[in-house]
Amino acid sequence: MLVCSCHAVFESTVRSAIASGASCVDSVGAKCNAGSDCGSCIAHIEDLLEEFDRALDRSTAA
Ligand code: FES
Repeated sequence: MLVCSCHAVFESTVRSAIASGASCVDSVGAKCNAGSDCGSCIAHIEDLLEEFDRALDRSTAA
């Protein structure tokens, strides 16, 4: 699924950026350009960041 149409960045690329350390919209943009232009995809990037944080919380909760 395409997340950022300005830079043709797919969800898998954003997930990879997050998994490799991007912890906010700006650092995702620095890694893969997603969200660094018109900004209309930022809500989707924030959703992916929150999803990653929740998964991390679950894996460290036990
Ligand atoms: S759609 Fe991502 S910055 Fe425009």
